[in-house]
Amino acid sequence: MTRRILVLNGPNLNLLGTREPEVYGSATLDDVARELDALATERDVELRHAQSNSEGALVDLLHEARTWADGVIFNPGAYTHTSIALRDAVSAIELPVVETHLSNVHAREDFRRHSHLAPVCVGVICGFGTDSYRLALEALLAHLD
Ligand code: DQA
Repeated sequence: MTRRILVLNGPNLNLLGTREPEVYGSATLDDVARELDALATERDVELRHAQSNSEGALVDLLHEARTWADGVIFNPGAYTHTSIALRDAVSAIELPVVETHLSNVHAREDFRRHSHLAPVCVGVICGFGTDSYRLALEALLAHLD
């Protein structure tokens, strides 16, 4: 059975490739999506990709995922550290969500070390650049098996 996964990216991740490349690398979000799609095809997984800079739109996308997805790979960007609304949305949809970050948030500023979402996610992957998304997909599939 084909599994369906939402790959959801939050604020400023549309600028990936040009945004602080020394921190986030030079690959774009489209590059990440292409690489993930190739892996997904091998694994009989259907991915849908979405990105928004707005907290409310991310809440809506999580709610919609409840109607079709088996799980979510979610990079909430800076909302990780601020958003109780996104935490509540993750909690409400009762889907497995993997919190995913390109950078190692624990090796940066103190304010990045706290995540409001991590306690309601099945796990967190950070620090591996664009590979974080691939590892998140592998982890989510293993979790779903
Ligand atoms: C990020 C880490 C966040 O702290 C930051 O605000 C981002 C990107 C990451 O992928 O490393 O926007 O989520």
